[in-house]
Amino acid sequence: MLDIAKIDAGKFEIVYETFRVRDFLDEVASIMMPLAEKKSIEISAQIDPDVDFITADMVKIKQILYNLLSNAIKFTPEGGKVGITVAYDEGAADKSVLSIPHGDLLRFSVWDTGVGIGPGDKERIFDEFEQADTTLSREFGGAGLGLALSKKLVELHGGTISLESSLGKGSVFTFTIPVTSPVEAVQPEEPEAVGLTFPG
Ligand SMILES: Nc1ncnc2c1ncn2[C@@H]1O[C@H](COP(=O)(O)OP(=O)(O)O)[C@@H](O)[C@H]1O
Ligand SMILES: [Mg+2]
Repeated sequence: MLDIAKIDAGKFEIVYETFRVRDFLDEVASIMMPLAEKKSIEISAQIDPDVDFITADMVKIKQILYNLLSNAIKFTPEGGKVGITVAYDEGAADKSVLSIPHGDLLRFSVWDTGVGIGPGDKERIFDEFEQADTTLSREFGGAGLGLALSKKLVELHGGTISLESSLGKGSVFTFTIPVTSPVEAVQPEEPEAVGLTFPG
């Protein structure tokens, strides 16, 4: 709740770090592992070989993934499966809205084999304090803020979040985040003004 207030107040800034996506996902998965193991849920990660080091806001991406993964585990019955897939988004659309000029879009999907979400709930659950209208959500508790926060964090970067699901058939939450490769990140935009002479 605090985080949402901070974003609304415009105090949430993007902090760039360069990191290796594979190591990052290993860390995220290992943090979620105890939660998954309690329900004998297997977590897997699949990373496109093109994806290596990136420059992006690691802490916020982590926060989004924790939210999505904890939901995936919460709404998947014992013995189910949860996974993350990461790849560059081929159809990187409107670069003018991206937070990083000339950035590429990295696409993260968190999928599960869980209870799924019906058509009437698909839009609503991204709003604050909204949960799918099932006894399951009430049974599991939660404030209904995780997805609202995740959506705000994604949109802060100029990315989008979407959902594919049907009741009883699992869910896939997909978000895109603009990133740069480390090489691009250290290259100056303009040639440096070394050795230029100025009039006067
Ligand atoms: N992976 C999922 N599978 C099924 N339902 C989900 C999933 N993720 C989210 N939901 C639905 O969206 C609602 C909102 O999620 P969220 O904002 O994280 O709130 P909370 O987890 O506190 O209920 C959940 O209560 C649940 O009904
Ligand atoms: Mg949640």
